[in-house]
Amino acid sequence: MSETPLRKPRILSGIQPTGTFTLGNYVGAVRNWGALQQEYECLYMVADLHALTVRQEAAALRRQTREAAAMLLAAGIDPGRSILFVQSHVPAHAQLAWVLSCNTQFGELSRMTQFKDKSAKHADNVNAGLFTYPALMAADILVYNADLVPVGVDQKQHLELTRNVAQRFNNLYSPTFTVPEPYIGKTGAKIMSLQEPEKKMSKSDTNANSFILMTDDADTILRKCKRAVTDSEGVVRAADDKPGVTNLMSIYGVLTGKSFGAIEAEFAGQGYGAFKEAVAASIIDAFAPIQAEYARILADKAYLDGVLSQGAARAAGLAQRTLTKVYKKVGLLQL
Ligand code: TRP
Repeated sequence: MSETPLRKPRILSGIQPTGTFTLGNYVGAVRNWGALQQEYECLYMVADLHALTVRQEAAALRRQTREAAAMLLAAGIDPGRSILFVQSHVPAHAQLAWVLSCNTQFGELSRMTQFKDKSAKHADNVNAGLFTYPALMAADILVYNADLVPVGVDQKQHLELTRNVAQRFNNLYSPTFTVPEPYIGKTGAKIMSLQEPEKKMSKSDTNANSFILMTDDADTILRKCKRAVTDSEGVVRAADDKPGVTNLMSIYGVLTGKSFGAIEAEFAGQGYGAFKEAVAASIIDAFAPIQAEYARILADKAYLDGVLSQGAARAAGLAQRTLTKVYKKVGLLQL
């Protein structure tokens, strides 16, 4: 084998700063992002422009953007190894999004299920940004020529559209963009609502008992776990007709590394009480060091803003190269 170091595959992912991250965000995304840094060159983005597709209160959005970045750092993103930045700090995203939106069809965007869901949910604000959101997401990914994109099921359709737009552009103009692949994690556990375990855990749920926030204190976590909906069987085992218990087992399994079989054995003959306490303890143990680090980082605004401005500068350097190529290829005059 040659001694030349191969370029590590590049990963890009983003998360919207629309509220404190939940246990679901942690298990599904944030937790894995830190782990990917060894093997991949990673870019992680706080997607503040995407958040504007739904009405936001300006001061809250600003605060949540810093909080999101602080939480990502606390959860293990190392700014020495990865590029952590805020989407709006790199103008090339919005600039490329315009060109890509001119290469994306109305019909394609109309088929996006998230658009249909969100326009039903916010019927008073079905804005053009909500509709063209996938073109901006495509720009986020393609501007860095990312090889892999870790996404949950709800973003898969957007990634598929990104691939189509990239291929179309490459065919029409000449090879320009890397066509990205979805990154499917090892433990793709999707965490469900603690109150309605058929639904995904969501921070926008009106019932605060249905989700656990990464900032919840130990008492709150214990209380929410104790109130989690189960069933009347009283046996800790995973089954399709036991969504509540199965969800708690997924949480416990992901956080402790134990298999469903091992969990069933551990709690055999015990009721749900002891099991729920163990689930709560596993969450509290996972979050305690992150929460301490989060508080420390948030209190050090100079450090946090320094990380973000360095991240933006590094990201912008990479992004500008792609944007310049694209502008040239589509015929925009360069002086
Ligand atoms: N749309 C994603 C979400 O709401 C966030 C996001 C924006 C993203 N740009 C991205 C995710 C690029 C992956 C890649 O969850």
